[in-house]
Amino acid sequence: AEVVIVSTPADAGSVVADEIARLIFTNPDTVLGLATGSTPVPVYEALRSRLAGVDVSRVRGFALDEYVGIEPGHPESYRAVIHREVVEPLGFNPDLVRVPDGSLAGIEHAGADYEAAIAAAGGVDLQILGIGTDGHIGFNEPGSSFASLTRVKTLTEQTRSDNARFFDTIDDVPRHCITQGLGTILRARHLVLLAFGAGKAEAVAAAIEGPLTAWLPASAIQLHPHVTVVVDEAAASTLK
Ligand code: F6R
Repeated sequence: AEVVIVSTPADAGSVVADEIARLIFTNPDTVLGLATGSTPVPVYEALRSRLAGVDVSRVRGFALDEYVGIEPGHPESYRAVIHREVVEPLGFNPDLVRVPDGSLAGIEHAGADYEAAIAAAGGVDLQILGIGTDGHIGFNEPGSSFASLTRVKTLTEQTRSDNARFFDTIDDVPRHCITQGLGTILRARHLVLLAFGAGKAEAVAAAIEGPLTAWLPASAIQLHPHVTVVVDEAAASTLK
């Protein structure tokens, strides 16, 4: 992987937003893989100025994951987050930006449908990734197969407590999710993994320098030929 160490999350946002804007200028049909959570926020913020006045009406997006069984209108559903933080501020066509369907009604088909939609769009050009403190990417928790495709997973207690800040109490954090698999993520043409803060340092070092293991799902990125890791000093602090 190419490792870029930046001073601040805002600097990381600029670096990655420049790359995404360049892709969209070159190809108006660019397909973006979108992460949620705190990490990608500076990327989406920096994209506002980069894409102002640019025709983004054909840009497609696929979110990494969604909670299962969360109320459809819940403000912390990833459908709502992607709409609020990406689709609306950047002016993307909402019909071209998809989030896995975490509703119980369609859950049996949701994974296969999502894979088919990604394939029909021609695959993801650039996938934005955060990393969990337990080494997950998407919601591929430790033990996830490197060949996995979009499917339902159980969130670890670590992830539920990490994400409790978005909910009133930890009991409100859903227990299950639907996530792109590691195999899905590895099919994207360029992976851009971001991480900020000392809390991510161990996971980042294990992902880049540790052994390939399902117990550190982000280590799967070592199998990909085009990976950029953008970290601040704190998140880079345990890299060799
Ligand atoms: C979010 C996702 C997760 C997060 C990870 C880090 O769509 O797939 O892998 O990227 O949990 O979360 P933050 O950025 O909130 O620290």
